Amino acid sequence: ARSINLAVIPGDGIGPEVVAQGLKVLEAVLPADIKVETTRYDLGAKRWHETGETLTDAELERLRGHDAILLGAIGDPTVPSGVLERGLLLKLRFAFDHYINLRPSRLFPNTASPLAGDPEIDFVVVREGTEGPYVGNGGSMRTGTPAEVATEVSLNTAYGVERVVRDAFERASARPARKLTLVHKNNVLVHAGHLWTRTVERVGREYPDVTTDYLHVDAATIFMVTDPGRFDVIVTDNLFGDILTDLAAAITGGIGLAASGNINPGGEFPSMFEPVHGSAPDIAGTGKADPTATVLSVALLLRHLGHETEAVRIEEAVTADLAERDGTARSTDAIGDALAARVAG
Ligand code: IPM
Ligand code: MN
Repeated sequence: ARSINLAVIPGDGIGPEVVAQGLKVLEAVLPADIKVETTRYDLGAKRWHETGETLTDAELERLRGHDAILLGAIGDPTVPSGVLERGLLLKLRFAFDHYINLRPSRLFPNTASPLAGDPEIDFVVVREGTEGPYVGNGGSMRTGTPAEVATEVSLNTAYGVERVVRDAFERASARPARKLTLVHKNNVLVHAGHLWTRTVERVGREYPDVTTDYLHVDAATIFMVTDPGRFDVIVTDNLFGDILTDLAAAITGGIGLAASGNINPGGEFPSMFEPVHGSAPDIAGTGKADPTATVLSVALLLRHLGHETEAVRIEEAVTADLAERDGTARSTDAIGDALAARVAG
């Protein structure tokens, strides 16, 4: 019998509510001979208030021993901005070398897009996850004075860019449209931009069946709204990818449906799966959160661990569930129950 040794970080706000549904669906979809063993890690705002800790080295070490991590959401208005983001979420992404931040965007049937004309949307953003402006390479001088100077230096290494570009080409070559769009701002951020552009050109020679093109990030936001069907696989840096994937979620039925995987493809470290949305403290505890993004993240988790059949079953259940939605409000739990019933049935 195979088994999954899963770490669960429910986190803050609606995190625990949506994670409970994700686990419910996970249990329901797996055949009897695949056991899931879950270990819960109580990290986030509460823990920080109680102990001042975000993530200890000992916890990091224990997390390392799991097959994968399921994370709900991190962040709370009572904690200064950046403490939990840097000390927990980004720490995990960096420590476990999650250099692929995978964010699929699909407009499911019967799901409202704010875009006119019922566009077909099915693309995937391969966002770099360990470099760019997220590395914390910056500083502030004369802080708090009128003469303050603050910098955030974006780190881009040939190694880091090549590995994410290669992964994106692999994904593009496995998709029917076989198209890769590099998004950057190489007319202004020329140093990093040219590294990315050259890398896509060079690696692209090994993938003659993949069409490549390039868009500046500002233009990419326009096309995402006016012609989202032009995108298949997008490869981009950490910050551009962050911004673009919120937009991508907004055009495909909202943040309640957007899933993501922080992936370490080689499997040296556990990959981590989480909804793109945040902790939504304003609706925490009300049962209004849509757990679908977390459930779809569980599908990505299963796919990563080689359980393709079960991943597809979850995606089909979500497609069917969305197709039958008629605007009647359902609770977080009710949506989780409905999805669990479908994958089991
Ligand atoms: C995301 C989030 C994070 C990011 C924050 C919470 C650090 O916005 O996963 O997209 O910027 O990557
Ligand atoms: Mn984001």
